[in-house]
Amino acid sequence: MRARFKFSDSFKLIKNIKTTGTITPSSKNLVRRLLAPIDFERAGCIVELGPGSGVVTRSLLKRMHKDCVLVCLEVNNDFVNQLARVKDSRLRVYNACASSIRQILNELGFEKVDYVVSSLPLALIDDEIVQNILVEVDSNLKEGGRFLQYQYSLANYGDVKPIFRDVKLKFTLRNMPPAFVYDCIK
Ligand SMILES: C[S@@+](CC[C@H](N)C(=O)[O-])C[C@H]1O[C@@H](n2cnc3c(N)ncnc32)[C@H](O)[C@@H]1O
Repeated sequence: MRARFKFSDSFKLIKNIKTTGTITPSSKNLVRRLLAPIDFERAGCIVELGPGSGVVTRSLLKRMHKDCVLVCLEVNNDFVNQLARVKDSRLRVYNACASSIRQILNELGFEKVDYVVSSLPLALIDDEIVQNILVEVDSNLKEGGRFLQYQYSLANYGDVKPIFRDVKLKFTLRNMPPAFVYDCIK
């Protein structure tokens, strides 16, 4: 696995700020908090939404067991090409919108997944698309599965709260900008 964050990635993030919602990749601290609820010994399939340049992706791959599959959905073709260079047979990268989880899982032959990890900038995405994405996430998670999402505000708390059985919030100052982690339990 060779892909690492490069200085040129900052330019891509700036160029695409409307879809990325940030100009820097997530800090180690934020990634650690985001992934803390995952039981890596038991997880068989994880979906990642909006992997970008792959900071969360690499951390997931480092901790997943050898039979766990990671399915990434990313709309930005530059990032998809970058992630496609990561040499790891457990990783499947798709140039697709987060709302097409079901279609992709059908292609791969998975019924439901254990975790959905998301860096999507929900606050910048149209309300209707956010609703579609959240419904897709919920319907493709196993019972007891978790949707882990970070955000720079609580603007979408009201969207996730009615969908999930429980939503726990965490906050970290050790990211630029500081971020909330939504830990949503199905
Ligand atoms: C904040 S960046 C995440 C970067 C990286 N995961 C991190 O934490 O540093 C958000 C990513 O979501 C992608 N994205 C935005 N809308 C999307 C959608 N509807 N479906 C899939 N990916 C999307 C953007 O292209 C961008 O790469």
